[in-house]
Amino acid sequence: MFRASVIGMIAVLWAAGASADVAPGDIVWGEYGSIEQPLTDTPGDPEEGRAVMATNALGNCVACHSVEAMEDVPFHGTIAPELQGAGDRWTEAELRGIVVDAKQLFPDSFMPGMYKVGPFIRPGVEFTGNAPDAPEDIQPILTAQQVEDVVAYLVTLKE
Ligand code: HEC
Repeated sequence: MFRASVIGMIAVLWAAGASADVAPGDIVWGEYGSIEQPLTDTPGDPEEGRAVMATNALGNCVACHSVEAMEDVPFHGTIAPELQGAGDRWTEAELRGIVVDAKQLFPDSFMPGMYKVGPFIRPGVEFTGNAPDAPEDIQPILTAQQVEDVVAYLVTLKE
């Protein structure tokens, strides 16, 4: 009984929190591709962020980046900079901007925007004409909370 009501309360709090997320289109960009304002009211959890970075279907950051502090995760790519020290090189706001849409800071980057719903040129548009009908049909790769979790982990990556 007690447990059910606690779970119910958490669900309500979670729903309330989720509705307060900043939507991809509502993000306020600073100069040089930084985002000062967190995307959620819930502070990022570095452990969750680390898990997102190691998960194929999510950020899959290690496919391109190697991360010294994540040596337990196999198969790091080397086509992108080593992320150790990213917490020294960039502020939290800059890291948030890079994860949301790296092209704001690095215009020619092939790093995928993790919290972005367009404009994209999708292969489907050119090859099959089957473009999603509306931008609402496109889901960002990461949720707002996952972005915050990843940023919380990145700031811990010191030299
Ligand atoms: C498809 C490859 C690819 C993936 C996947 C990728 N990145 Fe990147 N990332 C890059 C490249 C390339 C750069 C270098 C910037 C540029 O493009 O000039 C970069 C730059 C960065 C930087 C700044 C580099 C530094 O330390 O100075 C950070 C931080 C970063 N990425 C974090 C992430 C995170 C976190 C993820 C996963 C959520 C991720 N990246 C996924 C390719 C990738």
